[in-house]
Amino acid sequence: MMSRRRDLLRVVASATATAAVAGLLLGALGDVAAGQARLKIGIIGAGRIGGTLGEHWVKAGHEVLLSSRHPERLKPLADRLGPRARVGTPREAAAFGEVVLVSVPYGAFPQVGRDHADELRGKIVLDPGNPFAQRDGPMAEEARRKGTATASLEYLGSVRLVRAFNTIPASVLRNEAHRAGERIAVPLASDDEQALEVAARLVRDAGFEPVLVGPLARSIAFDAGTAVFGRGLTARELRRGLGLEP
Ligand SMILES: NC(=O)c1ccc[n+]([C@@H]2O[C@H](COP(=O)([O-])OP(=O)(O)OC[C@H]3O[C@@H](n4cnc5c(N)ncnc54)[C@H](OP(=O)(O)O)[C@@H]3O)[C@@H](O)[C@H]2O)c1
Repeated sequence: MMSRRRDLLRVVASATATAAVAGLLLGALGDVAAGQARLKIGIIGAGRIGGTLGEHWVKAGHEVLLSSRHPERLKPLADRLGPRARVGTPREAAAFGEVVLVSVPYGAFPQVGRDHADELRGKIVLDPGNPFAQRDGPMAEEARRKGTATASLEYLGSVRLVRAFNTIPASVLRNEAHRAGERIAVPLASDDEQALEVAARLVRDAGFEPVLVGPLARSIAFDAGTAVFGRGLTARELRRGLGLEP
């Protein structure tokens, strides 16, 4: 009798703790979406896209863990960015981030998903990946056929996926952030509304204008090879290109 009551108390305590953690996370991410809180961002693949976004987000006040399979090579970048930047392994980035950017060549997505499934589960994952057969092999052709978002979800598992930053050339990402006048647009798609809002905030913090396209299924409209891909369009031009309301 006593042991059953103890078991029950343990279940209640564990459920309360889970609810409290979920509540805290929702609260914090709600603040982030509203532009009030600072985020912990893990970056897997700190190359042209990941390294540049890491830099923009540190400057915006976020805490960023830039990762590499050779973390020591990123030390000079992190030193230059100051105390809000740190370096680590891809696993450490996946574990550190409330939001994780997976900016590796698309051919590495299956391996990243397999290796870091536990750390990534349930997290907001920003996916700028573009499959190119020349670089990524036959898996790229399959991903193009089914739509990149569908393929990414298969590789990354139970994450809150947002297609983000895939259309913007690395040079534009580096040189046109926070530019005067109309900003360059970044189309976003996700099945998770809160993840979409958090991603929109991070697009603004990086110095660009988010355009919310809709659920993941709609992201096929801005996959590699579409008319709006790789062109550095403003939000008005992008909306027009995607047939969205102004
Ligand atoms: N470049 C563009 O203009 C552009 C624009 C939009 C989207 N994208 C897409 O964004 C993604 C990243 O592109 P990028 O141009 O930034 O590539 P990149 O400059 O080559 O950087 C990719 C990074 O991924 C890391 N990496 C490679 N294989 C890995 C693995 N198996 N596990 C963990 N990390 C790995 C590498 O870091 P270490 O070797 O140090 O580990 C490298 O720094 C690609 O899918 C690309 O198609 C690119």
